[in-house]
Amino acid sequence: MIEKVQAYLKEVDGFSSNSLEEIEAFRIKFLGKKGVLTALFADFKSVPNEEKKAFGQALNQLKQSAQEKVDALKAELGSDESSKSSGLDLSRPGYPLPLGSRHPVSLVRKEIVEIFSRIGFTVSTGPEIEDDWHNFTALNFPPEHPARDMQDTFFVESEDEMALRTHTSSVQVRVMENGKPPIRTISPGRVFRNEAISARSHCIFHQIEGLYIDKNVSFADLKETLLYFAKAFFGKTKIRLRPSYFPFTEPSAEMDVYWGLETEVDKRITKGTGWLEVLGCGMVDPQVLENCGIDSKEYSGFAFGMGIERIAMQRYGITDIRMLFENDVRMLEQFKSPWS
Ligand code: PHE
Repeated sequence: MIEKVQAYLKEVDGFSSNSLEEIEAFRIKFLGKKGVLTALFADFKSVPNEEKKAFGQALNQLKQSAQEKVDALKAELGSDESSKSSGLDLSRPGYPLPLGSRHPVSLVRKEIVEIFSRIGFTVSTGPEIEDDWHNFTALNFPPEHPARDMQDTFFVESEDEMALRTHTSSVQVRVMENGKPPIRTISPGRVFRNEAISARSHCIFHQIEGLYIDKNVSFADLKETLLYFAKAFFGKTKIRLRPSYFPFTEPSAEMDVYWGLETEVDKRITKGTGWLEVLGCGMVDPQVLENCGIDSKEYSGFAFGMGIERIAMQRYGITDIRMLFENDVRMLEQFKSPWS
C-alpha cells in the first residue's frame, strides 16, 4: 500500500503544466471528492495497525504536496495572466512625437545667410531699440531731413529719444564703428515702421542687409555679388539695377530679378513686366564711412538691404503678410520639412 502512495508522490512532484485545464484535472485527480486521496483515506481502515502510522504520514504528505503543487502552478499562471491583462503590449509601436516646423521667414533668412556665408559674409546683430545716431544721423539722415519721412518711426518715450530701429543699417553703423576693414557682414533682424497694417505691409517685419568694405570695392563688385545671390536664391540668371535714392548710399539702385513671363503666375507676380523688385543697394556714401571712423580715401564699400517677408511671400505664394504674424499652426505646419 505504502508503495502506491510513494508512486503517487513521485507523480505529484514530477507534475508541471502551464495550462489551467491540466492543473485543474490534476487537482481533481488527487484532491477531488472522488480523487486519489479520498480513495486512499478510505483504504486507511484496511491498513494493518503497525503500518497505520507510516501510511498516515505518507498520505498527509501526498495531500500536502498535491495541494502545494496546485497552488504553485496556479500562482505562476496567474502572474502571467495579470501581465497580459494589464494592457501592456511591449511590441506596440510608440506614439509619433509631433514635430514643429520652421517659420517661413526663418527658412528664407536661413537660406540667405547661408548663401552669403559661402562668399565670406559673417552675421552681425544689434539692438532693436536704437538711438538716433545709429538709425539715422550716422547714415546721413540729418535732423529734419525729409528723408526721415521715408521710414515712419516708432519712438520710445525716453529722454534720449530712442526709437525702434527702422532698418538694420543701424547694425552696420555699429560694425563699422567697432571694426576695421575689410568688413564683410550681413545683418538679419526685426525692424519696425509706423505703417498701416494691410495685406501688403506690416508695422513689424524683417530685413537682411549686407555690407562690404575694403580697398577698391567698386560698383561692379556689388553687381557681381547681387548676381551671385540671384542665381543662388532664385535660380535666375539676369538682374538689372535701376537708379534709386537712399541717404546713405551714392549712387543708389534697386535690383530687379528677371523672372520671365512664361506663366500666368510670372505675369501676376511681376505685374506683367517680367521683372521682380528684390532689394535696395548702393555704394556706401563716403560721408557715412567718415561718420563711422573709416577713411573714405582709403576704403570704399557697398551695401544692400531686402525685406524677408516679401521674399517669403513670393517664394511660398503667401498673399497676405499678416499670415506671417498670426502663427496659425494650420498655416505654419505646411512648412514642415525633414531637413531644415
Ligand atoms: N536700409 C534700406 C531700407 O531699409 C535698404 C538699403 C540698405 C538700401 C542698404 C541701400 C543699401 O530701405
